[in-house]
Amino acid sequence: MATDKQTPPQQQESGSESISSVLSEKRKFPPPTEFSNAAHISSMEDYEKLYAEAAKDPEAYWAGIAEQFHWEKPWEKVLDWQPPYAKWFPGATTNICYNAVDRHVNSWRKNKAAVIWEGEEGDQRVLTYAELHRQVSKFANVLKIAGVKPGDRVAIYMGMVPELVIAVLACARVGAVHNVIFAGFAAHAITERVNDSKAKLIICADGTRRRGSTINLKNIVDEAIVNTPSVRSVIVLKVTGEEVNMHDGMDHWWHDLMGLAMDHNEPEFVDAEHPLFILYTSGSTGKPKGILHTTGGYMVHAANSFKYVFDIKDEDIYWCTADVGWITGHSYLVYGPLLNGATLMMYEGAPNYPQWDRFWDIINRHKITILYTAPTAIRAFIRAGDEWVTKHDLSSLRLLGTVGEPINPKAWMWYHTVVGQEKCPIVDTWWQTETGGILVSPLPGATPTKPGTATRPLPGIMVDVVRKDGEPCKSNEGGYLVIKKPWPSMLRTIYGDNKRYEETYWSEFKDMYFTGDGARKDEDGYIWIMGRVDDVVNVSGHRLGTSEVESALVAHEAVAEAAVVSRPDDLKGNALIAFVTLKDEYQGDMKLREDLRNHVSREIGPIAKPDEIRWAQGLPKTRSGKIMRRLLRELASSKEIKGDVTTLEDSGVLEQLREQEEED
Ligand code: PRX
Repeated sequence: MATDKQTPPQQQESGSESISSVLSEKRKFPPPTEFSNAAHISSMEDYEKLYAEAAKDPEAYWAGIAEQFHWEKPWEKVLDWQPPYAKWFPGATTNICYNAVDRHVNSWRKNKAAVIWEGEEGDQRVLTYAELHRQVSKFANVLKIAGVKPGDRVAIYMGMVPELVIAVLACARVGAVHNVIFAGFAAHAITERVNDSKAKLIICADGTRRRGSTINLKNIVDEAIVNTPSVRSVIVLKVTGEEVNMHDGMDHWWHDLMGLAMDHNEPEFVDAEHPLFILYTSGSTGKPKGILHTTGGYMVHAANSFKYVFDIKDEDIYWCTADVGWITGHSYLVYGPLLNGATLMMYEGAPNYPQWDRFWDIINRHKITILYTAPTAIRAFIRAGDEWVTKHDLSSLRLLGTVGEPINPKAWMWYHTVVGQEKCPIVDTWWQTETGGILVSPLPGATPTKPGTATRPLPGIMVDVVRKDGEPCKSNEGGYLVIKKPWPSMLRTIYGDNKRYEETYWSEFKDMYFTGDGARKDEDGYIWIMGRVDDVVNVSGHRLGTSEVESALVAHEAVAEAAVVSRPDDLKGNALIAFVTLKDEYQGDMKLREDLRNHVSREIGPIAKPDEIRWAQGLPKTRSGKIMRRLLRELASSKEIKGDVTTLEDSGVLEQLREQEEED
């Protein structure tokens, strides 16, 4: 892919209120003074100073942070770097569960709420740090009774109930390697993951609730483990009371085992590089990759990034809406908050159940102060209408976060004005399953934000945007996002496949980690993610980020959601095909196709004008809400859909798009 033909960003006509394309975004929002005054890092000067210090001596910087945790044995050195293999804090031993739970039980926080949970039907539970400690210790004893030893892999397949957090922490406590499998995955995905990791034990629930009905998870596990020779037993938590088959010798009820277990459990202090978890990345490209994270370095960065990016205070009630089945749930629902002794909200259920105001109702009732969610959810809320939000009192909110995909400036502005009432900074956090924690993000008390950019790297993180030959790009030139120095929470390998690890992340550029994302760095050093590099297209010799065209499309009042892909074109190299979901009131408007093409042309430039616009009732998405552009690319090229579609959330969407193609 060429990287050297990037045109400079197009300038917008000044004064135009409809400006919303990433390429031309110029709005800047300094942190509110009141927020800055009380923040951990309260000015750009402080950030720059810290960044420069960390860049000068990264090892000293990370060691300074690591000292704030409990280590049973100190490290011999901070980093042992044999590219591309890193060992952080070698020689040290620790236990992340001890640091996330026991440390707080030994402090004034023992009676502080650790987890506030709400179920879809409105049922609620609160676990203090002391109660969490008791439950985790007991379940750690259960794991030991079940024969789980340090290093053994344990698969977890449950809905978003507190026991999911308990199971994760108990695995860490005994030194077992957890592999959480998102409860939306089907049997085949479980089999694949369990076999790849050779898990000995599966912890599951009988069922989970979703939009008023229940899903029988245990039946799915039964189907999955027909072909998983490594599994010796299954522990089943009763949540919904589904009828389940319990197989003698194999299946055990959680409550029976907990009834037998003692309260006291000594944590297993493990090597800093002891594996903590494997998390498989979405299978949208081939066989899922088992991303391996280890203990010490992950702990240090998950905790520290959480503290500064979310500016966490003891009074906060923090809510991350991600499922624990994804990395966001690992780092910023479980580990980051608990390592900081924070109070976290956890919700099991759909955002639109019973109605589209469920999130806002939760925020009002629980007085949530920090909300961390995804652009895909934000777009759905925009579509549902402002009235669902504005009828609730959201004055408790002080900070908003987003993660997972580029946020269109239009969605950012909506989040800022309608949800944040123009008083909450927004942290647009860029990171990946592989990075373990946030790498690029505003610090909310310091960084002036611009809609659509994750801004600057965190202290200790050296990122850059480079050309194909590894040379740094000029300001605003599109290129590849790389990480130039190892960081503590980096993946250590792809489980069982060092070769794939080396090839995927370390072969493109010498001694630099390749993120797979296209990006540009603007005149303020802010990073603008242009999407995965396979979503960056070359049209008539000009590179375009498809997300930028999407931003322009959704800036149009008729558009609810849009995805843009490319199709080979004889004349231009690539043609752009836009799949567009219209807001209800605009459905059937025949002249919109041309209006939208012209609109994009106006927003970015004629080069970005989609060659074709197709109407979509919905877009094909993975269960984590990512648009499956690969499928759209295949549809756009009128090719047969090949490869894996099992991660698709709603297969009806694909049918509708196929039919649409025939009608067109
Ligand atoms: O393309 C980037 C996008 O999501 C990818 C990582 O996906 P995953 O491993 O599933 O982790 C998602 C949660 C951390 C990245 O390579 N991405 C993530 N955050 C952002 C983003 N793109 C733009 N802006 C973000 N804030």
